[in-house]
Amino acid sequence: RQPKDSPLYPLLEAATQFFKQALRNHPAKTKAVEYLKKRGLSGEIARDFGLGFAPPGWDNLMQHLGGDSLQQKALIDAGLVVDNAESGRRYDRFRDRIMFPIRDSRGRVIAFGGRVLGDDKPKYLNSPETPVFHKGQELYGLYEACQHNRQLNELIVVEGYMDVIALAQQGLRNAVATLGTSTSEEHLKRMFRLVPQVLFCFDGDKAGRAAAWRALEAALPTLEDGRKVRFLFLPEGEDPDTLIRAEGLDAFQARIVQHGMPLADYFFQQLSREADPQSLEGKAHFATLAAPMINKVPGEKLRSLMLKRVSELTGLDSSDLEIPAKPAGEND
Ligand code: CTP
Ligand code: MN
Ligand code: MN
Ligand code: MN
Ligand code: MN
Repeated sequence: RQPKDSPLYPLLEAATQFFKQALRNHPAKTKAVEYLKKRGLSGEIARDFGLGFAPPGWDNLMQHLGGDSLQQKALIDAGLVVDNAESGRRYDRFRDRIMFPIRDSRGRVIAFGGRVLGDDKPKYLNSPETPVFHKGQELYGLYEACQHNRQLNELIVVEGYMDVIALAQQGLRNAVATLGTSTSEEHLKRMFRLVPQVLFCFDGDKAGRAAAWRALEAALPTLEDGRKVRFLFLPEGEDPDTLIRAEGLDAFQARIVQHGMPLADYFFQQLSREADPQSLEGKAHFATLAAPMINKVPGEKLRSLMLKRVSELTGLDSSDLEIPAKPAGEND
């Protein structure tokens, strides 16, 4: 899927080193260091995640790596330099930002996220799609989580860079982020190759709750028996970063134990809101919504338990809710 020996890898690695050096040595580094401190991060965590600083100015990186037109072309292909066709100008994509290198599962840097130090817009700037970066497939922090833990049992899926890093700072070294894209079936398959349990913990806002339901939909076709998906919903206005810094590791872990909601519970809670199984019409609507979703679950035990619950709630026979398996070749 990705070119094995793309020349973009060493270039992205060189850029990572440049940004790291700038965080240590650049004359403007102080405000970047202060910003990271203000967000509660230690030097050790910054090092573990390879954080850096893209200094202010239009062509610091280009000057550093620049060279001939071939090299310039590679910088553009890597998403590090913008080539504005209209103005004919070329300039560094990332300027005056905290830099988060995004690594693939083998540890190679494939892209960056860059955050402004204040409240400017856009808050985050990310690498565009490139030959080595396909945004919808990657999980930020997965490589770092694997590096830190010999054996992982659960992954925590959060929204953003700072959520992953803040959890790591407090001792939870198993968080990954989808980086503003919705969780895909591909993401889940990748996680379930490594761990039997996934906990979704999105921001306590409307967007976060919508992301949770989409994650549930993506998870259904991956739910073999023995796999476990839970959801932790945060208080309004909090995200994992703000909450774990406010309440500390122990309270956050206790919250997961007490309020981590199994996927099936979340599923039935949401569907009952959508279609109240009090009236016969409600029951019919409920079953119509629930059955096709549950029939996506490959785990036979979980699927049959969920169908049984629908049958209890609606009075319909379980057998009326099952979709007979399609003959081979007709699956979509
Ligand atoms: N995001 C992005 N571009 C934006 C806003 C968000 O790519 N303009 C992505 C980033 O990966 C970000 C994630 O979506 O980390 C979650 O967005 P949000 O909750 O708005 O940001 P936070 O991660 O909470 O950012 P911070 O705590 O640094 O303010
Ligand atoms: Mn990859
Ligand atoms: Mn958010
Ligand atoms: Mn945040
Ligand atoms: Mn957030």
